[in-house]
Amino acid sequence: MKIDVLLGLQWGDEGKGKVVDVLTPEYDVITRFQGGPNAGHTLEFNNIKHILHNIPSGIFRENTLNIISNGVVLDPIVFQQEVEKLESMGVDITKNLVISNKAHLIIPTHRILDAASEAAKGKSKIGSTLKGIGPTYMDKTGRNGLRVGDLELDFKSKYTALKEKHLNLLKIYDYAFTIEDEEKFFEGIDALRRFQFVDSEYLIHSLRENKKKILAEGAQGTLLDIDFGSYPFVTSSNTICAGACTGMGVAPSAIGEVFGIFKAYCTRVGSGPFPTELLNDEGDQLRNLGNEFGSTTGRPRRCGWMDLVALKYSIMLNGVTQLIMTKTDVLDSFSAIKVATAYKVGDEISDRVPYSMDEKIEPVYTELPGWNTDLTGVRHKAQFPKELTGYIRFLEKELKVPVKYVSVGPDREQIIAL
Ligand code: GDP
Ligand code: IMO
Ligand code: MG
Repeated sequence: MKIDVLLGLQWGDEGKGKVVDVLTPEYDVITRFQGGPNAGHTLEFNNIKHILHNIPSGIFRENTLNIISNGVVLDPIVFQQEVEKLESMGVDITKNLVISNKAHLIIPTHRILDAASEAAKGKSKIGSTLKGIGPTYMDKTGRNGLRVGDLELDFKSKYTALKEKHLNLLKIYDYAFTIEDEEKFFEGIDALRRFQFVDSEYLIHSLRENKKKILAEGAQGTLLDIDFGSYPFVTSSNTICAGACTGMGVAPSAIGEVFGIFKAYCTRVGSGPFPTELLNDEGDQLRNLGNEFGSTTGRPRRCGWMDLVALKYSIMLNGVTQLIMTKTDVLDSFSAIKVATAYKVGDEISDRVPYSMDEKIEPVYTELPGWNTDLTGVRHKAQFPKELTGYIRFLEKELKVPVKYVSVGPDREQIIAL
């Protein structure tokens, strides 16, 4: 059985959590393969909103196994908070959540290093979520990291050695700090120990042999990928489809469908280039109508029009086979909708994402008519206004990949399969 992958095609927050929750009944297993608590994946059903950071979005469906795979960086403090919240709602998660021995742990000094690095960068800061993601992946690739499997092997002394290394590193920064949450960290470690630790690559392999259907849930988005995103304003993992292979230990030939998810417009949180950003009333309107405030940090998200140059790049990098468009309802009241189809850089018109997105990129826009219809109650494509059908056809023609789902609100029910 092949593994399907769902991932973001923009700068994150495309609605991955919602759509994974919608698709979960078709799968036996949901796995997270990269990122960590920098992610905030929102699910809404029965008028309750849930935000997940470390835990896969299949957790609310009883018969689904959820796996935190090796590519993830896990914060025991955030994890414990998530577990307690879920348990207070009666979700028994120790039965259907397992964790890879090879997932790396975020320790309190990783978070301090993240903050110190950002403070030192001043105006050119990344705008990181301050969850310690960069420093933890640095320790992973620097071969100093602490892994979940180390909990069984002289953990305390390994932890102390890593903390000492961090304290030495922190001396190069002029940054005042106190380590306040060590006690909570060890409580989080105890919370982790209630779960089964697995060699998730073997588990995933045997699940595939037993014909189980697996969906891999991406975090962040393609334009935040460490190799292909708007470097250095990116996260520290491979958010693209290839990251699913290394993040779970599966061969490229094991990947089946690649669901690429994007908003009907575009947002970004944190610093870095954003060619179609709207620094005007239309941008404020998108933010207000789309409630564009970060699920993890609460920061206002920057908003702009859809960028097909970037979207085509993301589709190419991921080998997307099906598209999912979210937040379509946010455009309900716009009389005209703009889509960037090329970039003008100096005198050149280009359909490529340049080496440095920093260059003075001027988007070349095509304008399409809005639908001026409330889509939030629409449940069938026969109810689509003709302008929406036109918008979707235009995108499919440009992107050469079919749009398979259109989301028209945050709730589980507010989605239409095409
Ligand atoms: P993720 O990180 O990709 O899972 O996305 P987030 O949860 O960070 O952000 C998406 C936000 O949009 C959340 O608040 C969702 O509840 C909400 N959302 C998802 N799909 C839709 C949609 O189709 N319409 C509207 N209005 N909101 C949506
Ligand atoms: P989900 O999974 C949106 C952004 C941060 C910052 C940059 C680096 O919810 O889509 P990091 O903390 O990773 O070192 O921050 O990446 N970022 C996200 N933006 N959605 C996310 O996750 C993000 N995770 C990180 O804002 O610009
Ligand atoms: Mg999010």
